[in-house]
Amino acid sequence: MNPIYEKLVNCYNSVREKIDFVPDVAIVLGSGLGDYGKEIKVVAELDYHDIEGFPVSTVLGHAGKFIFGYVGETKVVCMQGRVHLYEGYPISDVVLPTRLMKMLGAKILFLTNASGGVNPTFKAGDFMMMTDHISTFAPNPLIGANIEELGTRFPDMSEIYDKELRDVIEETAEENGIEIKKGIYAQLTGPSFESPAEIQMFHKLGIDAVGMSTVVEAIAANHMGMKICCISFISNLAAGMNPNPLTHEEVQEAANEAAPRFKKLVTEAVKKFGEKCI
Ligand code: HPA
Repeated sequence: MNPIYEKLVNCYNSVREKIDFVPDVAIVLGSGLGDYGKEIKVVAELDYHDIEGFPVSTVLGHAGKFIFGYVGETKVVCMQGRVHLYEGYPISDVVLPTRLMKMLGAKILFLTNASGGVNPTFKAGDFMMMTDHISTFAPNPLIGANIEELGTRFPDMSEIYDKELRDVIEETAEENGIEIKKGIYAQLTGPSFESPAEIQMFHKLGIDAVGMSTVVEAIAANHMGMKICCISFISNLAAGMNPNPLTHEEVQEAANEAAPRFKKLVTEAVKKFGEKCI
């Protein structure tokens, strides 16, 4: 068996020995949504350490567990803490949790992240719904022998972020008086933030926001046929667009301030996904 698939199956079996809950929606919580667990009627929790072979994050502020339960009537699995490429994990480990959540039953993947705004009309604290992405600056998680059990060799990527889910998110934002921008996100490897010259280049390429996650997860999820959506929290304006140097603390602080609005938007959208998109 392909060793990447074998590891995934082992993780799946390890989860299933402990938990039989079958989620419909998988939610990945980025910086600042770390305590989203409070919005969930929790059925079970599983520490990443308790899953055999599961990659465990080392970033401060990223707790590591799966939360299984209900948001309204929608059955969810929520990843509290993700692993990033810059931590040194192989790309197959970075996307393992995403693949695992699909194997556990999730048909929809709701990604969230914090990003640096590149679009000059954005400001720190904005939300941006991803309409598309640029993966050119991060390794592709599908490189290597194709895992036929997961998907096809050359997956179509013409609508990565599902139109129906995007419409629901926009409608939900409007109903709740929450402003939401739209745009294209590029994943960079990190961990250093970008230089001002890089940000100018990204702007010229039509990129609206940059971050260090999400795109590789979306590629793996799309390969497996999941419906995907993502809301990016613009925690800061990217390098050179702001007179001050960037810090991880600034990203965390901005995220904490926006957390109540972010939670509301995610919660109400997930309820609707359960009602009409599964
Ligand atoms: N650059 C890259 N990743 C980020 C940023 C940024 O400015 N802010 C939050 N994540």
